Amino acid sequence: MDMPTAIIDHTFRKDVSRCFDQRTYALPARWLYDRRGSELFEDITELPEYYPTRTETKLLQDHGSDFAAAIGKGRAVIEFGSGSSAKTPHLLHAVDPAAYVPIDISGEFLELSAAMLQGDFPDLPIHPVEADFMKRVDLPDAVADMPKLGFFPGSTIGNMIARTSVDLLRFMRETLGIGSQLLIGLDRVKDRQVLIDAYDDSAGVTAQFSLNLLDRINRELDGDIPVEMFRHVAVWNDDYARIEIYLEVQEDVTFTIGGTMHSLVSGQRLHIENSHKFGLRDARLMLRAGGWTPLCDWSDEQDYFTLILAEAHPYKHAP
Ligand code: TRP
Repeated sequence: MDMPTAIIDHTFRKDVSRCFDQRTYALPARWLYDRRGSELFEDITELPEYYPTRTETKLLQDHGSDFAAAIGKGRAVIEFGSGSSAKTPHLLHAVDPAAYVPIDISGEFLELSAAMLQGDFPDLPIHPVEADFMKRVDLPDAVADMPKLGFFPGSTIGNMIARTSVDLLRFMRETLGIGSQLLIGLDRVKDRQVLIDAYDDSAGVTAQFSLNLLDRINRELDGDIPVEMFRHVAVWNDDYARIEIYLEVQEDVTFTIGGTMHSLVSGQRLHIENSHKFGLRDARLMLRAGGWTPLCDWSDEQDYFTLILAEAHPYKHAP
């Protein structure tokens, strides 16, 4: 993250205090991604159990001519939360865009990935925007009059609760405008064990990734949480159709963070992430609720992952 250290410090401290002082026992997932966390997440995407990244990348690779037909050429491609832009080249090759606008909250990531992409696409105008895409974003003037395609891969929308995901889709509609298209990646509901294994791999990389959050609290907020007393837990919540990730303490513990003492009783869980999974109809309903009309979709043979193309139509009066 490229936020000024003082601001990270302040909001991280506030979130950690809410977790332990106000006893919400929940920590926002964004704090998982410090340098170490981002490296561990890269490792997760290469695990045999973690199918989403490789399944979505293959869909993007395999359906280039379908995208060209359904999307056409010459749009401005706007990527939300571009991160390392690893999946983007496949799409750009297919839709031959007039411009590329990666939006990310981390300016550091943004510059790096823009420079990398520019190497592959020397003639493509790239306009990085450092912004929080959970709100309406002002796009660069250079793309104002171009038809637009939003790109939101990784089933990142699944990490939001329903209300927040619909808010985001509506903001994207405002950002991109009527007549724009959106290509969004969504992880599907599937066999429970496949889902659980994807979030609790046999090599323990995912556990390290979650537990790093406690190490980070110790490192950055002067804590002495006994990390080895906690275990990573991934459960399937069928009612919500989501994987929930917790850190569960194995014994009664007492520790301090920045001089303040906290106690947890054995079995207490800290909730650190949700990852919602979608049926095709769930996904279409969510898109419509956010102002996007589904046009077509592409899935792998096992229906593990789906890309949906949607369009922002003018609102009509309807019964
Ligand atoms: N966006 C990823 C997902 O939901 C994040 C993720 C993968 C994750 N594995 C995790 C978050 C383990 C917390 C713990 O698939």
